[in-house]
Amino acid sequence: MIGRDSQEDSCRGAACRPRVEPGMRSRRGKGKPYAYLLGGKKPMVTTDIREFAYGACQRRENVLTASFFDWHLAVVAEYAGRLAAHLSADAEIVQLAAYLHDISAVFDFTTMPNHRKLSAQFATRELLERGYPRDRACIVARAIASHSDPLPIGSASPEEICISNADAVARIVRPAYWLYFASEIRKYGFEDGRRWLRSLIERQWSALIEPAKQLVGERYSGTMNFLAGRYSLL
Ligand SMILES: [Fe+2]
Repeated sequence: MIGRDSQEDSCRGAACRPRVEPGMRSRRGKGKPYAYLLGGKKPMVTTDIREFAYGACQRRENVLTASFFDWHLAVVAEYAGRLAAHLSADAEIVQLAAYLHDISAVFDFTTMPNHRKLSAQFATRELLERGYPRDRACIVARAIASHSDPLPIGSASPEEICISNADAVARIVRPAYWLYFASEIRKYGFEDGRRWLRSLIERQWSALIEPAKQLVGERYSGTMNFLAGRYSLL
């Protein structure tokens, strides 16, 4: 297992280095310090980042559509939060990573092939601009950089495991969006899009950690039936 302490010590990777790609400039200027940095009690960074991600999704240029927030980012945040309780992950870091894990593709869909790395860099910049501690921003960035396939317990930090598993879970519980994504955004058409989604969900289901399978086992059966055209979602 990669221990958290050793990761923090070695947090000098490209994923943590803030970098701005063309078309990815956010609306935000220089950051503001958060309550806890000023001795206050309640950090507001999660609320701010959630609103930032929501606003980014509403932009007309967002190819993923405004629905991407409710149908994906908020779903990843919900399930990553539930998994965090099982895995003793840092709840705030998990929420920040959930809302920012696809952010480069929200701002610029052409970044999709490299969106894990670019979203990690984007997140680092946004968090540092808000006065968020660098060591914690690096943990957020690592969770984003490794999110594409479910990671097994013991293979990475608890936060990485939460985000990577919740991203797969979000496809299982919101298949309608991903069918739209495949057929209309990826331009696969209905049949090829349906096959693509079925095989992706099937493959990722087999890699999910047990607590994630327990959360969405019935939904998985319903989604696979739905995509096979057998009967309705549970
Ligand atoms: Fe995602």
